[in-house]
Amino acid sequence: MILVHREEPIAVVQLNRPEALNALSPELMKELVSALEELDRDEKIRCIVLTGSDKAFAAGADLKWMVSHTAKELLAKDPLAIWDRISNVKKPIIAAVSGFCLGGGCELAMMCDMIVASETAKFGQPEINVGIIPGAGGTQRLTHLIGKSKAMEWILTGNIYSAKEAFEAGLVGKVTPAAEYLNEAKKLALKISEKGSIAVAHAKQAILKSFELPLAQGLKEERRLCFELFDTQDQKEGMRAFLEKRKPEFKGR
Ligand code: CAA
Repeated sequence: MILVHREEPIAVVQLNRPEALNALSPELMKELVSALEELDRDEKIRCIVLTGSDKAFAAGADLKWMVSHTAKELLAKDPLAIWDRISNVKKPIIAAVSGFCLGGGCELAMMCDMIVASETAKFGQPEINVGIIPGAGGTQRLTHLIGKSKAMEWILTGNIYSAKEAFEAGLVGKVTPAAEYLNEAKKLALKISEKGSIAVAHAKQAILKSFELPLAQGLKEERRLCFELFDTQDQKEGMRAFLEKRKPEFKGR
């Protein structure tokens, strides 16, 4: 259900359950989380692209699996808890989205660090249409990204939005022609891979803190992470290279 294409220094992780438009079953999520964690540990990989097919990034959590569950069972098992581990991946993850990106699919894309979308992509949180609400971060992350009023509209109507609308709302970072979304995401991943990997991981951590911490604490955390980098070889190399008017050679140390 998960394919991993290594193209060092990047890796493309592909959701591959075409018969169900990549619906995110617990088995698929387990495979996805272990693939991402393995790549996070792999020193040869600097940046990860997460994609689906041209037709669907993912059409949501698996409704066939969910339909017969009770609240008691879900509260006891918490099948969505495993999703949180994606937020602990230190390397940047870029979602390359084409086609349906709905419900849990949209929530998964929002757990990534950037979203590059084909102009054909369709975003939404349609859980309300099946009698529930988002349960994998939609009410929280979407609200941070597009603001309260728009998030209310998206989640309370269950409407589907185009890539252009998602871009204008602030959910998507870049919209590309249909044939280009994956290449564009890979280009972005390669560009990030040229930077010092410790600085990249610190930047990701600091930005994600802005979702969790009040400003004063976030600023303190940012300074701590920034100052910590002064003990890395990459900081010395980056600043010396600037002063010597040459390109830096970062080693991730
Ligand atoms: N779960 C399980 N199977 C799904 C699925 C899902 N979320 N979405 C699509 N599929 C399956 C369909 O059942 C169908 O399978 P069969 O051929 O065996 O019937 C196959 O994928 C193709 O789907 P459609 O025939 O429906 O394709 P379509 O092109 O006519 O429509 C669609 C595409 C608009 C995306 C439609 O499939 C759809 O509305 N899907 C459900 C979207 C949704 O409600 N997502 C939210 C799920 S709840 C959630 O995600 C909770 C959470 O927050 C974690």
